[in-house]
Amino acid sequence: MRRELVSPGHGEMTYEIRNIVNVAEKLQKCGVKINWENIGDPIVKGEQIPEWMKKIVADETMHNESWGYCHTRGVLETREFICDLTNKRGGAQITPDDIIFFNGLGDAIAKIYGCLDPGTRVLVPSPTYTTHTLAESANAGSAPICYHLLPENNWFPDMQEMREKIIANPSVTAIMLINPDNPTGMVYPVETLKEIVALAKEFDLFIIADEVYNNIVYNGQKTVPISDVIGDVPAIALKGISKEFPWPGSRCGWTETYNFGRDTDFQKYVNSILTLKMNEVCSTTLPQRCIPAIMKHPQYPVYLEERTRRYEKMSNITWNFLKDVPGLAVNRTNGAFYMSVAFEKGRLKDNQSLPIENSEVRSLVEGLVNKQNVSPDKRFVYYTLAATGICTVPLSSFNTNLQGFRVTLLERDEKESERIYGILADKIREYLAS
Ligand SMILES: Cc1ncc(COP(=O)(O)O)c(C=O)c1O
Repeated sequence: MRRELVSPGHGEMTYEIRNIVNVAEKLQKCGVKINWENIGDPIVKGEQIPEWMKKIVADETMHNESWGYCHTRGVLETREFICDLTNKRGGAQITPDDIIFFNGLGDAIAKIYGCLDPGTRVLVPSPTYTTHTLAESANAGSAPICYHLLPENNWFPDMQEMREKIIANPSVTAIMLINPDNPTGMVYPVETLKEIVALAKEFDLFIIADEVYNNIVYNGQKTVPISDVIGDVPAIALKGISKEFPWPGSRCGWTETYNFGRDTDFQKYVNSILTLKMNEVCSTTLPQRCIPAIMKHPQYPVYLEERTRRYEKMSNITWNFLKDVPGLAVNRTNGAFYMSVAFEKGRLKDNQSLPIENSEVRSLVEGLVNKQNVSPDKRFVYYTLAATGICTVPLSSFNTNLQGFRVTLLERDEKESERIYGILADKIREYLAS
C-alpha cells in the first residue's frame, strides 16, 4: 500500500482469551475431550434462562417500538428506571441524561478511550480485562500505565504505587477499576474505593469504574458501587446485562456519568462520546425495553441469588483444591466468576512439561511451546490443556508480567468441578516437579 495501513503496535495485538480456543479446537479434532474453563459466557456454559424472563423478551417483541431506533442515549423509560435505582442508594444523583446505552460494554469501552486525547492517559490495573487496556493503549499509541493488583494481598491494589504512578505520569487523568474484578474475582473494600476517589480528587482526575459484575458477589461480601462514595469527583460507571441476566448476546450495556457539571473538560469529553453514539443513531432497542420488567420481576432477585450461591460454591471448590498446591498464590474470590492463580516467582521454567500419550497431540503442543517468546505460563497452559483437556487462560495475557492462569467458575456440576480441579491440582504438582 502507498502508506502503512496499521499503526505500530496494532498488528501485534492478540487476544489470548480467544487464541486459546483455537488451540483447544485443534486438540479437540485430535480426540482430546476439552473442559472449557476459559469461557466467560454463562450461556455457553449451560445457564438455563428462566421461562418468565424469556416470556418478557418474547412479549416485548410484539410491540412495534421494539423494532425501531430509539433515542441516542437509550430508551427513556429504561433510563428513568435505572436512574431511580442509582438515586435511591443516596450517593451520586443522576438524571436520565447522565445515562448512555451502548451495544454492549465493548462498544462503550472503545468509545470511552477512543474519545480521549491520545496524550491523556488512564491508569489501569494489572492484571486486567484486556479490552480496556488494548483500547487505552491503542488510543495513546503507547504501552499501558498500570497499578498492580497484588496476589500476596488478596489481589488488592498497591495504593502507594497508585499514588506514585499518578505523580510520575502527569499525562494520567483518570483511574480505571473493575469491581468486582475480572480476572481476579477480587471485590474492592469500600475503604480502598474511598482512597481511590480521594486520589482522584487530589490530582484532578476522573474515575472509570467497570461495574458489570456489581450484583454478582458472594462469601458474605457486598460490592459498593462507585456512585456511593464518589462525592463530587467526575466519574463514569459501566453497567450491563451480559453477565447479570445473563444476556451477552443482547449486546446491551450503559454508562452512568457522575458529576457531569463539575468540570467543563469532562463535560466536553462525555459529549464527544455521545456524539459518536449519535453517528450510529442508537444502540439495540429490544433489550433496553426488557430491562425494567426483568429487574422488577419478583423472581429476579431469587434467580440472581441462586446463581451467585452457585458461583460461591464453585469458587470454594476451586480454592480448596488449589490453595495447598506448593508454588501457587491462590486467593478466595468474592465476586464475578473468575479466579486468577499466580505461580511464585521462578517456579515456572522453560523446560517443564507433562507426558502426552497421543503423538499427534504431543507434536502439536511441542510445536506451539517451542516457538519464540512463548511465556512460561502459556507453556504451562498448553501442556495442561493437552494432557488433561482442561482449558485455562495464561495470566500473562491479562496485561501482567505475573505468570499464572485464569479459570472461570461457571461449571454447573459440583462433582465435575471437583473432578476437574482435583486433576488440575495434581497436574500442577507434576508439572512443577518435571
Ligand atoms: C470487566 C468486563 N467489562 C466488560 C465486559 C464486556 O461486556 P459486554 O458483553 O457488555 O460487552 C466484560 C466481558 O467479559 C468484562 O469482563
